[in-house]
Amino acid sequence: MRGVLRCGRYQDTLAETTCDLLCVDAPYSSRTHSGHNGGAAKANRCTAEDEKRLRVDKRTGSVYAVGANRRQSIDYAAWSPGDVQEFVDFWHPKTRGWFVAMTDHVLAPVWAEALSRTGRYVFSPLAFIAPGSRVRMTGDGPAQWACWLVVARPRTPLFVRWGALPGGYTLPKGLGRAESKPCMPGGKPLWLLREVVKGYSRPGDTVCDPCAGMGTALLAASLEGRLAIGSEMSPATFALAQARITESSGVGLDTVSELTHDDLQDRQQHRASVGSSPHGQLPVGPAPRAGTQQRP
Ligand SMILES: C[S@@+](CC[C@H](N)C(=O)[O-])C[C@H]1O[C@@H](n2cnc3c(N)ncnc32)[C@H](O)[C@@H]1O
Repeated sequence: MRGVLRCGRYQDTLAETTCDLLCVDAPYSSRTHSGHNGGAAKANRCTAEDEKRLRVDKRTGSVYAVGANRRQSIDYAAWSPGDVQEFVDFWHPKTRGWFVAMTDHVLAPVWAEALSRTGRYVFSPLAFIAPGSRVRMTGDGPAQWACWLVVARPRTPLFVRWGALPGGYTLPKGLGRAESKPCMPGGKPLWLLREVVKGYSRPGDTVCDPCAGMGTALLAASLEGRLAIGSEMSPATFALAQARITESSGVGLDTVSELTHDDLQDRQQHRASVGSSPHGQLPVGPAPRAGTQQRP
């Protein structure tokens, strides 16, 4: 078993979890959600019928809900700046290494400011340009469909000397459009998450995605030899993620299951007994000035 996925809000299910890389594709702002949904909030469409239509491309790990209307609307609630701040406050003390948050142009500055207040060094947002994506917002300026990756690292020597990484992400050569499709509305392609996992963590690290959706980051982490831990609050999406990852077992993840707090504690005790992370201790110390952008 190289990964665990819990069903529920991360605040409840992952209270005891720590990680090396925090990689999250959290809900976007209400502006993006309403643009994507044609201005209307939609009911959760992730039904048992959808599950029956699930198809997994075993080669890429991509999931398609055949014939289901899963690409049309975003079912989960948008996040406010307060949700972002709560998330950063919760995860900063539990994250030993890099912090990568995927978001839209509205919340990107909010993530950057919240992470900066923790004392991490925050980079300029990196763009992920989804090929062939539909333009989401019209009539109010240049069309935009970019996802921003807000990346931050601790100000400790290991991370200062980490090495050069991509300044943005586009579809790699050799991959077709089909392989770049997300597996759910607002989801991200597996190749992107594999790149992020490879770039910002080392083999054997623990990668956590607290808002796992269809489990793309967890699958990517497992495929790249990391321990994956995550949570998804929608039971329907959780069920689809379970099915997806179980189907993909041939490419790396053995099982996905719900864990109790006792299980998580056992896992952490085991980890402590076999050796600590090469990243060392959790970041501690006073939060520096808001908005600082100086290195390291
Ligand atoms: C953008 S989607 C993630 C998609 C994922 N990256 C993928 O490609 O499969 C965001 C997910 O976060 C979940 N979510 C929102 N708030 C949450 C919380 N407090 N705890 C756990 N999951 C949450 C939503 O239900 C939604 O499925």
